Amino acid sequence: MLLMKKNVSVAIRPFRATDSAQVQTLLSDVRVARTAGNIPYPYPKNGAQAWIASHGAQHRSGTAIIRAIICLQDDQCIGAISIDQRSRGLNGSGNLGYWVGVPYWNKGFCEQAGQLMLALATKEFAMMRLVAAHRIDNPASGRVLEKLGFNELEPQRMTNLSGQYLFRCYEKWL
Ligand SMILES: CC(C)(COP(=O)(O)OP(=O)(O)OC[C@H]1O[C@@H](n2cnc3c(N)ncnc32)[C@H](O)[C@@H]1OP(=O)(O)O)[C@@H](O)C(=O)NCCC(=O)NCCS
Repeated sequence: MLLMKKNVSVAIRPFRATDSAQVQTLLSDVRVARTAGNIPYPYPKNGAQAWIASHGAQHRSGTAIIRAIICLQDDQCIGAISIDQRSRGLNGSGNLGYWVGVPYWNKGFCEQAGQLMLALATKEFAMMRLVAAHRIDNPASGRVLEKLGFNELEPQRMTNLSGQYLFRCYEKWL
């Protein structure tokens, strides 16, 4: 899938083993791990290789849709966007997540990738509803969700399993 808007040309596609060096570099930046919530820091050696290798099983089981965000100017993998915790059937839903490498922040890449993912979710996976959450100290993620038309759920605060961090929660009916 391909989308071009303003000066940003973005595609999303399944990850390839050849993306692992770039992913390893981008995820080794604490600024990505700190706010993403589910990325370890320090990022383990060969972490990207193992992570990409895990996608096939998740796709086959239908639990997740994971795509690389590709900047078409230089055909580089610049981030990831995913829908996990998928429930299937008539009211299929899932949880939207994403990260973008620091050199590519605030250029509209995540918004564009999000629009492509929403189209994929409806057209290819017949999904009806997405939810998403971000830490309260991550307004950039909140802005991405706002640009994608998500609505914040009635103000609610959510902690992670360790009882740390407070999140803002959103939903979008597709
Ligand atoms: C959140 C993240 C994916 C956004 O990616 P991105 O490609 O920079 O997103 P976009 O450029 O499409 O949009 C970012 C928006 O946030 C805005 N923004 C950035 N910093 C901000 C801040 N401190 N306060 C308010 N808005 C902010 C930008 O101006 C932009 O809005 P605009 O298009 O109206 O100008 C990226 O910052 C990231 O990967 N962060 C680390 C991982 C993470 O937080 N993942 C999400 C976990 S919920």
